[in-house]
Amino acid sequence: MTATSVIGLQWGDEAKGKIVDLLTPEHDVVVRYLGGNNAGHTVKFDGETYKLSLLPAGILHNTVVSVIATGVVINPKAFLTELDGITSRRGAVPPERLMISDRAHVIFPYHMAEEAAFEKARGCDAIGTTMRGIGTCYRDKAGRTHAIRMGDFIRPETLKKRLHEVVPQKNIMIQALNPDAPVFDADTIFNEYTAYADRLRPHVVDTTAFLHRAVRENKKLLFEGAQGCLLDIDHGTFPYVTSSNSSGCGIHSGSGVSEREINRMIGVVKAYTTRVGGGAFPTELDNEIGQRIREVGREYGTVTGRPRRCGWFDAVAAGYGARLSGVDCLAVMLLDVLSGHEELQICEAYEIDGQRVTDFPSQIDELAKAKPIYRTIAGWKEDITGVRRLADLPVNARRYVDAIGEVIGYPVEIVSVGPDRDQTILE
Ligand code: GDP
Ligand code: IMO
Ligand code: MG
Repeated sequence: MTATSVIGLQWGDEAKGKIVDLLTPEHDVVVRYLGGNNAGHTVKFDGETYKLSLLPAGILHNTVVSVIATGVVINPKAFLTELDGITSRRGAVPPERLMISDRAHVIFPYHMAEEAAFEKARGCDAIGTTMRGIGTCYRDKAGRTHAIRMGDFIRPETLKKRLHEVVPQKNIMIQALNPDAPVFDADTIFNEYTAYADRLRPHVVDTTAFLHRAVRENKKLLFEGAQGCLLDIDHGTFPYVTSSNSSGCGIHSGSGVSEREINRMIGVVKAYTTRVGGGAFPTELDNEIGQRIREVGREYGTVTGRPRRCGWFDAVAAGYGARLSGVDCLAVMLLDVLSGHEELQICEAYEIDGQRVTDFPSQIDELAKAKPIYRTIAGWKEDITGVRRLADLPVNARRYVDAIGEVIGYPVEIVSVGPDRDQTILE
């Protein structure tokens, strides 16, 4: 049995989508198991660009089954818009090629309104969420009383009953926090959403049973991570995190497949660091260098269009993510973006209250105090976007990649030098 997992080791947007797309032809099933349409995974090949949010990158290959597993939160309207976009470009996707878990939870319009009210209440401490109702849907899942799962969603009588129970209570809570918020009507939501349910129904199955069968039949599974380790609800930079286990810790709970089945865990890192939204970021470059990285790397959010905060490579943070997830190797992405700098910095430790620290802090105020201790590496001038072998990289680019592997403590097996599928060095 071969199962591979692709996990972002930083704060998301490490180019997981590109790696998943590259590895898909070697697999039978691609599984997305957490998050929702807060994720934005860009895949490029043959001059075409695809921006995927809820659909696994496997959807671009008609040889594999794409599974949206139990841990995902699904906005049905966003899902259908995305599916229609893919269908118009690549043809229809039959239900047996795209399965949605009947245990997954559903996002409704009141989740967005609730989130807007919560974020507003935090004022300048706002988490800086994507405003897609992700956290509020997971909140309902954990709270249970207001949760509506896919299995309920596709049963019209159950959906109607649940909406009539939930919506009046949501209105009370949302209006108390924000009297300007819209007032929701259960029947209006029901009428709109039953039409979405009719289209989704053929795709909704018990994906856990399907995946267990696939394991028994020795099918090759590929797990597509979303977000990144430092956004993990339990292990990330709380409260500036997403609301699910976005490190490797979430694969088992989100898919129902034991992590014992996974025999290759690829940790994906950018050659530098980015973060969208609030929260401490020790290596952030709020200067011309950060601006240059943002422009060259086109570091603007896929989902919200927000400029991503950019900084030097933080090996304390990424190393923590790697250990948390138990990776076998690293994929270092967007190396080309760093061409042309005189010198580059890799943060190998923090100084906190005069102490050298290499354990990633558990408290956000400690992280906010962390001053990066850098290892300086000379830069390279050459354009590396055409390089296809490690041996052909400029010597300083090679040194830089080696230093990332050495400081984090895992071998680098993939280096990416451009967004296209073929701009990849596989060792
Ligand atoms: P994901 O969320 O982890 O899948 O990452 P995103 O798709 O949000 O962000 C990564 C961005 O970098 C996308 O726009 C990719 O097309 C782009 N990209 C991927 N690999 C490379 C690379 O090696 N070089 C450059 N310049 N861009 C890349
Ligand atoms: P991919 O899969 C980068 C960030 C948001 C915010 C925090 C909480 O493309 O790597 P949420 O809407 O999830 O409640 O927002 O998490 N965030 C991401 N940042 N990439 C992502 O996904 C992200 N998904 C959520 O910016 O700081
Ligand atoms: Mg992204």
